[in-house]
Amino acid sequence: MIRSLKRAVRPLLEKLGLLTPFDLPNYRTVMFDALTRIKPDLHGQRVLEIGPKDGKDSHRLASLGPESLVMMDIPAEYTLNVTSHSITPRQHLPSWFQSIVLPGKSYKEGNILYLAPDELKALGRFDLIWCTGVLYHNPEPLRFIKRLFNLLQPGGLLLLETSLTRHPALKNHNCVEILWPKSQLCLRTGENDQQLILSKVVPEPEQSLSIQSNVSHLPSRKAVLSWLEMCGFQEIEEIAIPIPDHARIGLLAKKGTFSGYTYSNRGPEPSPYAIGDSL
Ligand SMILES: C[S@@+](CC[C@H](N)C(=O)[O-])C[C@H]1O[C@@H](n2cnc3c(N)ncnc32)[C@H](O)[C@@H]1O
Repeated sequence: MIRSLKRAVRPLLEKLGLLTPFDLPNYRTVMFDALTRIKPDLHGQRVLEIGPKDGKDSHRLASLGPESLVMMDIPAEYTLNVTSHSITPRQHLPSWFQSIVLPGKSYKEGNILYLAPDELKALGRFDLIWCTGVLYHNPEPLRFIKRLFNLLQPGGLLLLETSLTRHPALKNHNCVEILWPKSQLCLRTGENDQQLILSKVVPEPEQSLSIQSNVSHLPSRKAVLSWLEMCGFQEIEEIAIPIPDHARIGLLAKKGTFSGYTYSNRGPEPSPYAIGDSL
């Protein structure tokens, strides 16, 4: 009762400027602090930010003065701006983009997972890729991570953050929870994504399939670490995200000279079982 009252009043308080719109958990500032500990500035660096959404991290990244900052998000026609209860179509060029003070800024619409090879090539290589809160929306995570790897310069740095499975039977294994209603054992209710409801049936309308309806899967911590290693990342370092139940993971990882593992130890080169790439 109190929760639904709070939920009803929140948008009004946000509009009046009495409450900041939700930015919880604050993994984004934790990630940014981790970045600035190793890179106090980004002078001369090319930076790619995937999924800027509201531009909060874009502002933070721009403040470190990179040579260029490319921000890429899904095209507007496929996404909506969801701020609490108000839903509006997203603009092609988000309004916050204008307030970023950086000569080398650019905003591109595109799904990084499915950009055509020539579009990927045109992006060039980056010294830093910032990708928080994005991976678990994408149904092909290994391919996604390999794309990030390929977009980095040798020596380049990835900052990756993702939500993780909370499923008690899965979270300690090297596996992925696929959010698919027909086989899902574990549903969560609205706001409180810590609360688990065991169910094998198609969800009730008031139940959410996950924290958000556009989440495709939730990996375990071990799965994310495995994917990074398989793709060829090295010097992988975890960044502790201070939220209950280890429900999210932050990572720093470097691209070295190793080009990544393959599932084939014989046959033609390149391997038909290469990870994440089409031949
Ligand atoms: C949950 S929001 C995260 C926003 C912000 N980065 C953060 O950490 O809070 C996910 C954002 O990533 C974008 N996104 C998801 N998958 C993407 C992809 N494959 N290519 C580009 N943008 C993507 C979504 O459109 C959305 O703006």
